Amino acid sequence: MPLSSQQMLDDPSVFYAGLREYGPVMPIHLDGDVPAWLVTGYDAGCHVLKGSHKGRRLFTRDLGQWGVAAQGQLPPGWPLAPHVAPMENMLFASGDEHVRLRGAFRSSLRRVSSARRKVIIGRAADQLIDSFVDQGSADLVSQYALPLPVAVLTRLFGFPPEEAARLQRVIPTLLAGGEGALDANEELTDVIASHVERRRRTPRGDIVSGLIEAGLTAQETCNTVWLAINAGVGATTAWTANTCVLVARAEDARIDLRTGMTSTPAVMNEVLWNHTPVQQVIGRVATADVDLFNTDVRRGDLLVISVGASNLDEQFGDARTRPRNIVGNESHLSWGLGDHECPAQPEATSIVEGGVNRLWTRLDDLHLSNPEQPTQWNPSIIVRIPTRVDVSFDPVRARARAQTLAPTGDHP
Ligand code: HEM
Repeated sequence: MPLSSQQMLDDPSVFYAGLREYGPVMPIHLDGDVPAWLVTGYDAGCHVLKGSHKGRRLFTRDLGQWGVAAQGQLPPGWPLAPHVAPMENMLFASGDEHVRLRGAFRSSLRRVSSARRKVIIGRAADQLIDSFVDQGSADLVSQYALPLPVAVLTRLFGFPPEEAARLQRVIPTLLAGGEGALDANEELTDVIASHVERRRRTPRGDIVSGLIEAGLTAQETCNTVWLAINAGVGATTAWTANTCVLVARAEDARIDLRTGMTSTPAVMNEVLWNHTPVQQVIGRVATADVDLFNTDVRRGDLLVISVGASNLDEQFGDARTRPRNIVGNESHLSWGLGDHECPAQPEATSIVEGGVNRLWTRLDDLHLSNPEQPTQWNPSIIVRIPTRVDVSFDPVRARARAQTLAPTGDHP
């Protein structure tokens, strides 16, 4: 059974419900006929992501142990290779090495207080809105949801403005994955390396200085920054864009937001349940032959954890009961689970919340330009993100409103 399909993009709940009829774990073929197991049930997803059972480690994030790859059986130029090729960073590390790298990253994130982070996010959001406000229309994906996390992360990492501007061009090219991606990756790697060198000489109150202070080598610091940008930007862009789509599409949601019947965090939580940014986590490798929910998985097999499917598991209710079951419930798997659970949840949450709030505060009549057209989704099996979100608003009203709004604060 192939995983990529138009129905997965257009109607994930129907698509994943169909898959779950095979049971919570099923054989699939990834692009190029590469065999793997897809974990679609919530309980099975928790089990595999946690990785151990009764004190025994059964699944590892170390994809170097994946039999098909180790035996050189991947097709040349395999499109998913960048997601599975082992790299020297915390995502591919395990045991004490993982604890050390992850600990350094988490402690460095705390170098920027949440108050300062909020100012950075508000100013980045304002600058982006200013760049399109006079046009009365925008594509929220390319002009807002994508450049926003890039602007915030480059600021949190302490990149000087000219390098941050360079990364605004480079990172989207890298994430798009087309022809220019290899060159973009080289440029990103160079910019990171020279910034890490700069901070080794002159530390400041930013995350890169925090990583160095936590004892990481120059190379480990570069790898961590590279991973944070690659893991963080796409997912945060998708979460922002999917939240914007939900608010822009549903007049009820806009009214409820205005009247305080719901809140931006509540809508964001709904997105994590129903349109999670990271649809599939690729993945885990079985470290032993194991009976996984009545499926024989062999040592060295690859498991793809379908977070999208797990979050839509019927155990959270049917069309009638699900909406109230997920309100205020954060037990979805959107951040992963276990040792590798996303370490940047507060940062990502504040970027999306700050970004969405500022957008609807500044452009309070924002609406979809073509509401009758269904949302088109990028044909990725991994990240759920619209290709574009075209919106319109009254620029005169927006400019007048800007005069009356409180500023987002000075540059910290
Ligand atoms: C500021 C933005 C973000 C940054 C810097 C970031 C960074 C990271 C890093 C460094 C890891 C690897 C952790 C480890 O191996 O121990 C990770 C894992 C993960 N992140 Fe994030 N992230 C961000 C936003 C998001 C968002 C918005 C989502 C989705 C809602 C997300 C979902 C995940 C998931 C599912 C994993 C686990 C992968 C696995 O288990 O294999 N992240 N993130």
